Amino acid sequence: MIKNRHLIDPMDFSTEEIDKLLSLSEQISKNPENHSKKCSGKILGSLFYEPSTRTRLSFESAMMRLGGQVIGFSEANSSSVSKGESIADTIRTVACYADIVVMRHPKEGAPKVASMYSDVPVINAGDGGHQHPTQTLTDLLTIRTVKGSLNNLKIGYCGDLKFGRTVHSLIKALSRYPDNEMHLISPKELKIPDYIKEEILDKQSINYFEHEKIEECINDLDILYMTRVQKERFFNEEDYIRLKDTYILDNEKMKKGSDQMIVLHPLPRVNEIAYEIDNDPRAYYFKQAKMGMYVRMGLISMLLGVC
Ligand code: NCD
Repeated sequence: MIKNRHLIDPMDFSTEEIDKLLSLSEQISKNPENHSKKCSGKILGSLFYEPSTRTRLSFESAMMRLGGQVIGFSEANSSSVSKGESIADTIRTVACYADIVVMRHPKEGAPKVASMYSDVPVINAGDGGHQHPTQTLTDLLTIRTVKGSLNNLKIGYCGDLKFGRTVHSLIKALSRYPDNEMHLISPKELKIPDYIKEEILDKQSINYFEHEKIEECINDLDILYMTRVQKERFFNEEDYIRLKDTYILDNEKMKKGSDQMIVLHPLPRVNEIAYEIDNDPRAYYFKQAKMGMYVRMGLISMLLGVC
């Protein structure tokens, strides 16, 4: 039972629980109106200490489409955080007003700390360069819908694998399904952290390969997961400027990918996908953003036990 639990890390739910959640989200996506009163009388606390478009708005839209309401802030400066209040005190207060809380924070581990002080479910909406489990649920729902399964896939992750929390979470999640092969495409400076290799890829005996160029593996991939270089996590601007345009996926490169390969991106995109790709039938990133709302409707329903 997912009811009343927190979601801080993709591993917090078993694969069986995730499969159940994805099936519910798929059902919701087909007939959202059947679920429009499920959360009536319930309140989502939406605490965003870092910028967001899709995650925040899809959570808020999800709660409203379930008939619930939303309170919160999208800038830490507009809350008592600017007066020096701790996460523990903020969450203890918000938990008095809301039935469920979603939190994004620049500090790794902040939503975990919040969950330790909260009487209501806390959902991690991204903590620094660490994890982003609800983006992963979005990605899993998209992959399962398009590919029909979550196993036996060749996935290429491209871009900022060092700071990209969406990649960290997706690798974790997909490592639990059988026969997935991973291709990690990044410049040397932005390679996947060692802890992901040691604690996930090696531990689960995942077949993985590291590349510096998309062309080295694109012809082999079922999924190409593009990511932006995470400007806000760099220590100096020069490095960011040097690395930001390492990868630009364009028609020329897409010609080398198969007809079945799909392109995903958590968004926002900066330069890493040329606009000319948007009309390619293999470009799924805006459909993926819509899936994010349905999967969050499913998640909120299950955590509140109203499904
Ligand atoms: C991602 C994030 O915030 O980590 N965006 C999102 O939630 N869809 C990716 C990013 O910001 O690059």
